[in-house]
Amino acid sequence: MVKICCIGAGYVGGPTMAVIAFKCPNIEVVVVDISVPRIDAWNSDHLPIYEPGLDDVVKKCRGKNLFFSTDVEKHVCEADIVFVSVNTPTKTQGLGAGKAADLTYWESAARMIADVSKSDKIVVEKSTVPVKTAEAIEKILMHNSKGINFQILSNPEFLAEGTAIEDLFKPDRVLIGGRETPEGAKAVEALKNVYAHWVPVEQIICTNLWSAELSKLAANAFLAQRISSVNAMSALCEATGADVTQVSYAVGKDTRIGPKFLNASVGFGGSCFQKDILNLVYICECNGLPEVANYWKQVIKINDYQKNRFVNRVVSSMFNTVSGKKIAVLGFAFKKDTGDTRETPAIDVCKGLLGDKAKIDIYDPQVSKDQIQRDLTMKKFDWDHPMHLQPSSPTSMNKVNVVLDAYEAAKDAHGICILTEWDEFKALDYKKIYGNMQKPAFLFDGRNVIDADKMREIGFIVYAIGKPL
Ligand code: NAD
Ligand code: UGA
Repeated sequence: MVKICCIGAGYVGGPTMAVIAFKCPNIEVVVVDISVPRIDAWNSDHLPIYEPGLDDVVKKCRGKNLFFSTDVEKHVCEADIVFVSVNTPTKTQGLGAGKAADLTYWESAARMIADVSKSDKIVVEKSTVPVKTAEAIEKILMHNSKGINFQILSNPEFLAEGTAIEDLFKPDRVLIGGRETPEGAKAVEALKNVYAHWVPVEQIICTNLWSAELSKLAANAFLAQRISSVNAMSALCEATGADVTQVSYAVGKDTRIGPKFLNASVGFGGSCFQKDILNLVYICECNGLPEVANYWKQVIKINDYQKNRFVNRVVSSMFNTVSGKKIAVLGFAFKKDTGDTRETPAIDVCKGLLGDKAKIDIYDPQVSKDQIQRDLTMKKFDWDHPMHLQPSSPTSMNKVNVVLDAYEAAKDAHGICILTEWDEFKALDYKKIYGNMQKPAFLFDGRNVIDADKMREIGFIVYAIGKPL
């Protein structure tokens, strides 16, 4: 029986390994992590992450060929294939701070693998890493290996949160990069055989190591660039009377462009787009390519602009001040169907409104009060450095309430901001909500989920991204 161990039981390690175990009953999969609460949660009825379909998959395999453990060293030692899926945040200090990837967690995992291994292993980069990381990892492993043969593969993950199980069951492609040597090719083949249990072989792309590492950063940069492009258009739509939904539709009908990922929004969030583009920018700068670096930097700048533009629109519409006014924030997660708030645009919008002295009541169906409090009091980039977190300051939270439903959030509010596209926000009783609000009642739709004309008929003053006012 092939034994797989995955270091890092997070949003990627957990679901990815659960699906491998589910699709490959002949493989034993152990997911390990240094975080005891995380592993306890994976072993309980309340998994540490919310992801549609995940509970089912985990329940079917856990205790059979899928295990979660904190005994990192034992399971790494016993494995034939070790996936490393630890966090690779943006550096907060020192050389490259604010841009470069912090590989501390990766390096400590690699050193541990070298220390505890007693047999040959394939080590798989699952985390998103800077191009050429495999070379550094090879150095760490080889210099400490006591004659053990390690083959490093790059196998970046393309799943999106909220659809992780669907994406893993039917990936557009699986990418495997390896050394172009007989041993490298053998390792690539071994990993290919794992995925071939359920992924058609023509969808498994094999490349050299550096192409695989760079393709991951490139894919995220291209995806984020589409959103910044449509968001830039949304500003022009508002200025000219064009409707961004109609423009996206017309543009996306061109088969060379395609219809997906063209929804204008309050800005993209999530743990990776910004981090990976900053990483790409840093790599370009280090390779003497400032023009390329500046090109990609612009994707982030437009995203920041879009979030600021939304806050400015709220404040300017409400007679240039929100001081002392109650604003209901509907949705805090960075997208629907996840409880993840990493880099969610809601953080910047809430901070912007608090900066203008608003009182905000927040409702999200999947995000806890504790999480929201942590997010609103944390410094930029600290969220992905869990080991260094400082306790949050309670004073900055006295203007924030986290409530249990949308109606409570909107009661007596002057305005509503929809910041996540949860389906339930489409089905709310907006007449009832309007009746319980201060007048004039403002509605700012940061996700274009509601029918603006119907809301205007009810009496709301409506602002929707990229739509005529
Ligand atoms: P995460 O923070 O949810 O999980 C990482 C886990 O690694 C944490 O539980 C942490 O405790 C653990 N860890 C850190 N150092 C460790 C060590 N030395 N030994 C054992 N465990 C250790 O992160 P994530 O969202 O799963 O992302 C992981 C990687 O995958 C990142 O590089 C990210 O860019 C990439 N990625 C993420 C997504 C996504 O949707 N979240 C998608 C594709 C790729
Ligand atoms: C993204 C990529 O889609 C995955 O392929 C990749 O594996 C992952 O990053 C990663 O490397 O972490 P994710 O961040 O989970 O996945 O979610 P997306 O669906 O890409 O959404 C990202 C952000 O863009 C969200 O805030 C979403 O609301 C926003 N978005 C998305 C838009 O504003 N408009 C769109 O048309 C699409």
